[in-house]
Amino acid sequence: MAASSLLQLAPIGPLADRLLRDNLGAVRLWEEEADWLARHGAGVELLATSVRRGCDAAMMAALPQLRAISSWGVGYDTLDVEAAHARGIQVANTPDVLDDCVADLAWGLLIAAARRISASDRYVRAGEWRDLGGFPLTTKVSGKRLGILGLGRIGTAIARRGQGFDMQVRYNGRSPKDVPYGFEASLVALAEWSDFLVVACGGGPETRHLVSAEVLAALGPRGILVNIGRGSVVDQAALIAALEAGTLGGAGLDVLQGEPGAPTALCHRDNVVISPHVGSATIETREAMEQLVVDNLHAFLREGRVLTPILR
Ligand code: DGY
Repeated sequence: MAASSLLQLAPIGPLADRLLRDNLGAVRLWEEEADWLARHGAGVELLATSVRRGCDAAMMAALPQLRAISSWGVGYDTLDVEAAHARGIQVANTPDVLDDCVADLAWGLLIAAARRISASDRYVRAGEWRDLGGFPLTTKVSGKRLGILGLGRIGTAIARRGQGFDMQVRYNGRSPKDVPYGFEASLVALAEWSDFLVVACGGGPETRHLVSAEVLAALGPRGILVNIGRGSVVDQAALIAALEAGTLGGAGLDVLQGEPGAPTALCHRDNVVISPHVGSATIETREAMEQLVVDNLHAFLREGRVLTPILR
């Protein structure tokens, strides 16, 4: 392949960036002149990108010979998969390798929100344990009811861990699956049943604000919401209103609307724990995700098929 036939839209990570350049001759768009695309776009056959950078239909239109896109990240809300498929362009993401870490973090946030680990840590550091005495009582986790919105690979990994906490598990999603957990066709009904509701679905228009004011009200003043999917799935204004009114018990959030950053209304609450979108952010998992971006391109070049296509 000519050196210009693989285009990388943005940095992905040290491993992927190095392998894409050294082994596949990637052109790094961010290091090129502003008119590179106009001058060389016609020669690009492969594209490497990430869910952070995405790839829209306008970019694809500038690449008439494009045959495959390899994207870092399991999410594809920033990729126009429909436009790609309409042109026969294969699109790969990096699923599977991050399931465990994202599920682990969901549980970390769930426990941290229920047991107020961040707030109690602040309490100790501020000297309040010494000056004021014991920390207020919190909420038990084991043996409770776990609701999951989106029982995909990550949702399933979260559900499996729930069994270790002796929890009953139910889920809501597009359709029932052959799994040992109960399906709730209505998200409001699932929230009403749940002590903890974990959002594990992807973003995009189909899931926008699925977790509405009504769902939060159903989860109730003792209920805790955890979101490791996408910020857009939760109506954030409704979430803030419910927390302020005391009609929701708490929240553990790895993703937010308008991230990076979080609104003060969430930051100052002791019943809210926030992490900066780090579900997959371990050394091991990020390395595996980066390697998969590269492996997908090698597989396409070898066999004409990416390893982990997005099928829609
Ligand atoms: C993903 O893989 O989509 C993650 O959200 C990226 O951090």
